[in-house]
Amino acid sequence: MKTILTGVKPTGTLHLGNYFGAIKPAIQLGHQANAAGDRHIMFVANYHALNYLKDTAQLNQITKEVACAYLACGLNPEKSIFYRQSDVPEIFELTTILTNYTPKGLMNKSHAYKAAVDKNHAKGNPTDAGINMGLYDYPLLMAADILTFRSDEVPVGKDQVQHVEIAQDIAGAMNAVYGQEVLKIPAYVVQEFAQVLPGTDGRKMSKSYGNVIPLFGTEAEIKKAVMGIQTDCQDINAPKNPDEILLFHMVQGIADATVTAEVKEGLEKGGMGYGTIKKMLLAEIMRQVGGLRETYMDYMAHYDTVQDMLNEGAKKARAIAAPNLAKIKEVILG
Ligand code: TRP
Repeated sequence: MKTILTGVKPTGTLHLGNYFGAIKPAIQLGHQANAAGDRHIMFVANYHALNYLKDTAQLNQITKEVACAYLACGLNPEKSIFYRQSDVPEIFELTTILTNYTPKGLMNKSHAYKAAVDKNHAKGNPTDAGINMGLYDYPLLMAADILTFRSDEVPVGKDQVQHVEIAQDIAGAMNAVYGQEVLKIPAYVVQEFAQVLPGTDGRKMSKSYGNVIPLFGTEAEIKKAVMGIQTDCQDINAPKNPDEILLFHMVQGIADATVTAEVKEGLEKGGMGYGTIKKMLLAEIMRQVGGLRETYMDYMAHYDTVQDMLNEGAKKARAIAAPNLAKIKEVILG
C-alpha cells in the first residue's frame, strides 16, 4: 500500500484557475488512490499560512473556505484522510527534530526565501528585512508534513518540486547519520495536466490581478467575468489563429474536447463570433462547476459538521503519525 500525500495552503477566494489547476486534479488523484487501495492523505496547511497572515479571523476563514471547497468538489473524507495541519502535533515535533539534520545552507536556497531577499535588495532594504523564520523554514515544515506519514508520493505543481527535493535531502541526511532508513524518502509526482489557466486579461488568473472567474460565484457573477474576457476587434468572418486568441486558451483550459474542437474550427474558418464563443464557454463552466456552488454553500453554512469531519481526519492521521514518530525517537533517543 502506497501513501500519497498532498497539502493545500489556504489562499482565500477560489477561482477557476485553482479549480482546474489544483483542486480537480488533486481530487481525481485521490479517487484513483482510493480505488487502488492506496492511502490518500490531504490536509489544509494552515500553519504554512501563518508566516504572512496573523489575523485569526481571516486565517480561520480561509481555512474554512478551502476545507469546504475540497469537500464540495468531491473529496471523500470517508476514504481519504482529511485534516487541518494544526491538529496533528506529531508534525511539529518532527519539525523540531529535523532542524538538527538540516543544513542551514539548504534553507538559504529555498525559492520563497530567495524571492523575499531579492525583493528586499530591489528596494534597497537589508537582506532579511521583514522575513520571519516561518517563511525561512517553510520547506522544513513541509518536509515534516511529508515525512511524518512515511509518504511514498507527493503530487505537486511544478513550483513545489524544490520543496519535495528538500524533504528528500533532509531525509537522506538523517538516514546517513544513523546508517539506516529512519525516514522514508518521498518521490514527487508533477501534475503535468495541471495547466495554468489564464485570467480574463491574459495574465495568470490571480485574485491580486482582479482577472478571475470565481469558482463558487452565482451564474450572474460567472457570466459577468466571462463576458469581460478581453478580445480583439478582428472581423468576425476573418480566419484566425486560435493560438493567438486568449478566449480560445480559456476554452482549451476549461471546455471538453468536442467544444474545444468546435471553437477551434469556428475561429480557423472564420464566422464564429467572440460573443458566441463566450456563451459556449459560459455553458461549459456552468455544466462543470455550476452544481458545486450549492454544495459549497451548504458546507459553509454547516461548518460544525465539517469541523467534525476534520477532527475525525486528525484522529486517523495521528494514529498513523504517532507510531511513526515513536520509531524515529527510538532511533535518536534510544
Ligand atoms: N507548500 C504547498 C503549497 O504552497 C502546500 C503544502 C504544505 C504541501 N505542505 C505540503 C504540499 C506537503 C505537499 C506536501 O501549495
